[in-house]
Amino acid sequence: MCGIIGIIGKGNENVVGKIIHGLEKLEYRGYDSAGIAVVCDGKLSRLRAAGKLRNLIAKIESNKLSGTVGIGHTRWATHGKATENNAHPMMTKDVALVHNGIIENYRELKFELQKDGYVFSTETDTEVVAVFLQREIDKGNSPREAFKNALSAIEGSYAFAAIFSMLPETIMVAKNRSPLVVGFGSNMCIASDASAISAECKEVVYLNDGDYAEITENNASFFDKNFQPVMRKRFTVSEDSIDSGKGEYAHFMLKEIMEQPSAIRKTILHNRINADILNGVSRILILACGTSYHAGLVARYWFEKFLRIPTNVEIASEYRYRSPIIEDNTLVFAITQSGETIDTLEALEYVRKHSNAKVAAIANVKNSAISRAADMIFYTEAGVEVGVASTKAFTAQLVVLAAVAFCKSEFFLQELQNVPTACEEALRLFENIKPVAERIKEARSAIYLGRDLLYPIALEGALKLKEISYIHAEGFAAGEMKHGPIALIDDNVPVICLCPHNELFEKTASNIAVALARGKNVIVFTDAEGSKLLPDEVTKIILPNICSEFVPILYSVPLQLLAYYTALIRGEDVDKPRNLAKSVTVE
Ligand code: M6R
Repeated sequence: MCGIIGIIGKGNENVVGKIIHGLEKLEYRGYDSAGIAVVCDGKLSRLRAAGKLRNLIAKIESNKLSGTVGIGHTRWATHGKATENNAHPMMTKDVALVHNGIIENYRELKFELQKDGYVFSTETDTEVVAVFLQREIDKGNSPREAFKNALSAIEGSYAFAAIFSMLPETIMVAKNRSPLVVGFGSNMCIASDASAISAECKEVVYLNDGDYAEITENNASFFDKNFQPVMRKRFTVSEDSIDSGKGEYAHFMLKEIMEQPSAIRKTILHNRINADILNGVSRILILACGTSYHAGLVARYWFEKFLRIPTNVEIASEYRYRSPIIEDNTLVFAITQSGETIDTLEALEYVRKHSNAKVAAIANVKNSAISRAADMIFYTEAGVEVGVASTKAFTAQLVVLAAVAFCKSEFFLQELQNVPTACEEALRLFENIKPVAERIKEARSAIYLGRDLLYPIALEGALKLKEISYIHAEGFAAGEMKHGPIALIDDNVPVICLCPHNELFEKTASNIAVALARGKNVIVFTDAEGSKLLPDEVTKIILPNICSEFVPILYSVPLQLLAYYTALIRGEDVDKPRNLAKSVTVE
């Protein structure tokens, strides 16, 4: 969701350039608008712009904004349209404030402040906090008291950073259920994540929920939810959390797709799972959202077939509402690339409240919130994933889950080692996939079909296509097509089938024949043997042979390329698709 940053300059240093650099790193969290506020000589100034960060940068260049202490924001709109007027920072006479999260009781607070004569000029929930702080200052309270009173009145999720005209050397921050770090280095900084300030800070403190902190040029003071001073542990910023740019690639997504063989190799190397984690486990529960949920769906096949442990996979955003029962001896896996998806964290909180189940997290971002919420953490070693559409983190999640499923089988662990090379071969097929992208680029809708382990990959392929190309796409279990979705098929609806030559080949091949009888645009991802047996009328993309348990990892790769090239041909912003954000920290 939104990204926030704050930097304190050394002496008279102008921090605007550094804030912009940080916002560039945070833009993956939202790009509906961006803004910056600085304090200089006791005076607050701000600039904001609707749309991507480049619009703000253009404004800053023509307006010469300068300040020694500043805060910045990149927005993913929740309350209020994506206009300049609703862009953060919110500013009153004496306060400028940026926020990530949702203030749930903003209507009551707004009403109360309006009764006191305060006027609002935006549609956002955040403005109530800035106005609340202003009212406290007007009452004669210090900025710290103002913050304390505001925090006890506010309900919801937040990471705030505020600057005050009367306290020009300080940034005040608070956090509850939205991520916030305080960085120590050549500058004192705050940010939604460590990567945004990694150029300035080699050490960070991750604030706890309810924490409040005051940051000055050389120091930071931390207070807990009772406003008692506390010490918080400093962590070294991991090299892995620093993104190294797009390199030779046009987009982060393409770079990340291409990085998969090495990401998979590294993830295998770092995830030798000890079979002890399964001792006494009689059920597995997997909680995740979006692409991570699809990884969980694949794992269910592996866990049930090879570990013989009944496994449930739950959409984290739904899980807690139906008051689910968690049996004794359940092992829970929370899967999340970012490690900060609030739906997954909340589902985990439900597990904590209602059971003694052990929780294992699978995350890509080191030291993210999930690492503190879980009993054990397994990291996917995919490196920073910037593209909003998850690619290498997904296949790396599958690798960790495979390492769990096959932790007792040297044979399969050995076979897993062959996956990166097979993925390398699949990546070389990009020239074959471009013409397929040409063929589906005008489609109003696309259908993805897969059976067994490839059913979740059909779901994932469809998600990739719709996320970045905006073509409506749905994945179905191949055998389910005849129970309804078949009505959608005509010559303008491509049917994309996943059909390796395995024990289910004949069944999926029949589904392909049925699709072909109703539409002319049938594309099949298969292997050499399958290709020989499938009709000539279908377009075939031939993938390497691989141990049949690991086809979900391999078959994900060409589907990512297909989504990428389709979006590219349609002229869409591949790395920053409309309405989305990489990290979803609101419910
Ligand atoms: O960071 P997480 O894995 O928890 O994120 C979950 C989803 O928001 C995420 O996978 C989303 O579906 C991606 N945009 C998919 O490409």
